[in-house]
Amino acid sequence: MQKPKGTKDVFGFEQNLKKLVISTLNEIASLNNFEEIETPIFEHRDVFFESVGETSDIVSKEMYQFKDQGSRDLVLRPEGTAPIIRAIVENKLFAKPLPLKLFYQGPMFRYENPQKGRQRQFNQFGVEVLGEKSPYLDAEVILMAASILDAFKISYQLKINFLGNQNTLKKWSETLTNYFKKYEKQLSPISQKRLYKNPMRILDDKIDSKHDFVKNAPQVKDFYSEEDKAYFQTLQTFLKNIGLEFTIDYKLVRGLDYYSDTAFEFVSTSKDAGAQSTLIGGGRYNNLMKKFKGPDLSGIGFGLGIERFILELKNLIRAEELEESVQVYVINLEQKTTAAALGIVYMLRKSGIKTAWNYQPTKLLKAFNKADKIGAKIKIIAGTKELKNNQVTVKFKEKQELVTLENLVSHLTKKLD
Ligand code: HAM
Repeated sequence: MQKPKGTKDVFGFEQNLKKLVISTLNEIASLNNFEEIETPIFEHRDVFFESVGETSDIVSKEMYQFKDQGSRDLVLRPEGTAPIIRAIVENKLFAKPLPLKLFYQGPMFRYENPQKGRQRQFNQFGVEVLGEKSPYLDAEVILMAASILDAFKISYQLKINFLGNQNTLKKWSETLTNYFKKYEKQLSPISQKRLYKNPMRILDDKIDSKHDFVKNAPQVKDFYSEEDKAYFQTLQTFLKNIGLEFTIDYKLVRGLDYYSDTAFEFVSTSKDAGAQSTLIGGGRYNNLMKKFKGPDLSGIGFGLGIERFILELKNLIRAEELEESVQVYVINLEQKTTAAALGIVYMLRKSGIKTAWNYQPTKLLKAFNKADKIGAKIKIIAGTKELKNNQVTVKFKEKQELVTLENLVSHLTKKLD
C-alpha cells in the first residue's frame, strides 16, 4: 500500500524542520499581536464557492469534494481565508475590538499536479487582519511577511500589484472580456466559460496563461481611479522609505476571486526553488465578509506554504543542528536490576532530563556502544553492588564516579549545564 499521490510522510530531518518553522511562525505571530484560530479541516462546499470563486482553478478544478452520510456537500478546505471569515461571522467575533488579528495553521487540500513544492495535501500558515483599511496596514502586513523570511534567512523577491477598487475591477473585467473574445477559440473550455463570468481568472489559468495573447492582455493600471493611484503610491513610498525592496508586477492577480486593492507575493530567489517558487501570497479583500452575511469589514492577509519553507531550509540548515540527542543513558546489566533502572529513568525524565535505557539487560560494552551511537552525553550504570548502597556509577567523558540516588538529579544537571 502506498500513500495517495501528492501527499507526504514526514519524519526525521524534515519533521524537525517543520517543528522549527511552526515554532518560529508562532513566535512571530505573537510578537505581531495575532491570536490563533482553528477551524475545521472540512467545510460546506458553499464556503469556497462564492468567495474563492466558482470560476477559479481552486474551486472549478482542484477541490476534494464529497457527500457525507447525510448527503451534505462537503469539501476538504483548499485554503484558509474563507473559513476564517465564515468563523468570524458565525461566532460574531467582529463584535470584539477591531482590528481583529487572527492567525491559523494546518493542512489544506488541492487536487493539483504534484511536483517539487506542490502537493495535494500541504500545510499553510496564514494571518488575517479585519476591520481596517489603510495603505499603512497593508505595509505592516507585508513587513510581517518579510520578517518571517528574514528570520529564516531565506532570500526573496517581493512583487506587489494594486487591483483597484470594485469599480476599477469591473471596468477592467469588461475590457478583458472584449479583448479575449477575439481569441475565444484558442481558449480552453473552462476559460471559454470564464470569458463572460470572470475573465480575470483566464490570466492565472495554469494552461491558458502561457499564450502570448494572455500575457499581452490589458492591465489593471490603465483603469485606476485617482483614489486607487493615491493609495498605491502611499504604500510604495512607505515601503521604499523603510528600505523594503519590491517590484511592481501588474500581471499579479492571485488566482482567488476575493482580492481587490493590494496584492503581493514573495518569491524565492534560490536556485533550488523549482517552478513553485511563491513562498508567501496575500492581499486585501473587501466584500468577503458581506458574502457571509456579516458586517462589511475590509480585510488583508497572507498565506505561506510550510513545505516550501522546508525545501528552502534544507539547504540552509544542517540536520545535526536540529537533532536533540539523548542526555543520559541508563545501563541495566541484570534482570534483577531492571525495575530499579526504570525507577531511575522515571525520576530523571520527571526532572526534565532526556533519558534512554536498555530494558533488556545487556553486556556493559554493548550498552556503552549503544549510548554513544545515540549521542548520550552521560552514561549511568545501575549495577547490583552500587544500588545496594543507593548509588549508581556516573560516567561523563572519561571520568567515572559514584553518586547517591538522592544527589543524582542535581549532579547530572550541573554536568549537563
Ligand atoms: P495561495 O496563494 O493560494 O493563497 O496560497 C498561499 C501559499 O500556500 C502559496 O504561496 C504557497 O506557498 C502555498 N501553497 C499553495 N498551494 C500549494 C500546494 N499545492 N502545495 C504546497 N504549497 C502550496 C491563499 O491560499 C490565500 N488564502 C492567502 C491569503 C490569506 N490571502 C489573504 N489572506
